[in-house]
Amino acid sequence: MSSNVKIAPSILSANFSILGEEIKKLDESGCDYIHIDVMDGHFVPNLTIGPDVIKSIRNYSNKTFDVHLMIDPVKKYLKDFINAGADIITIHQEISENIDDCIDYIKSRQKKVGICIKPKTMPETIMNFIDKIDLVLIMTVEPGFGGQKFMSNQIEKIVKIKELVGDRVIDIEVDGGINLENVKKVKDAGANVIVSGSTIFKTNDYKKIINELRTK
Ligand code: DX5
Ligand code: ZN
Repeated sequence: MSSNVKIAPSILSANFSILGEEIKKLDESGCDYIHIDVMDGHFVPNLTIGPDVIKSIRNYSNKTFDVHLMIDPVKKYLKDFINAGADIITIHQEISENIDDCIDYIKSRQKKVGICIKPKTMPETIMNFIDKIDLVLIMTVEPGFGGQKFMSNQIEKIVKIKELVGDRVIDIEVDGGINLENVKKVKDAGANVIVSGSTIFKTNDYKKIINELRTK
């Protein structure tokens, strides 16, 4: 089971003054996806990066760019994120816009699409989109900041999502507060993509920590 697990370092905790080098180092350390957190200071109380930054780091790695859009409105920006080099675009279930329209656009551009749910959002809400998506992203912190404490009451939700996904080929990705102590629980609950920011970036040896997160 662990060998099928993908590790998606969140660059939110990277050293932004040398972002290109950080991406290259992650790539060489054997990660699977590069998780990119986009925040708008409206849907979440923090501001991060936009499509131009993604474009500028695209050449530093061929790995899948897993772009987590914590923005609302989102629809008018999808084109820019895709043109910048996103491979997977994940939008939030809680946005005010029509989600089907966003999904249809992302798919029309031949990119993968994910739906993210915040800690208080019911797992069943993904059923509205389940046959159109490639990934479900389950937040295990309130979105907005790296380095927060893992909400262990979300483990049950991972189990439920796994059950709802059934035989469909859909990544179950978990994001927020994951470390070497809780990663096994997250995988055992059914997650196959592990996002990790501060746990990876507070070490110097990215290869070692990525391998540990994968094999725990
Ligand atoms: C939170 C972001 C996460 C976060 C993960 O809103 O979506 O990707 O940066 O960072 P850690 O692993 O430090 O919780
Ligand atoms: Zn994220």
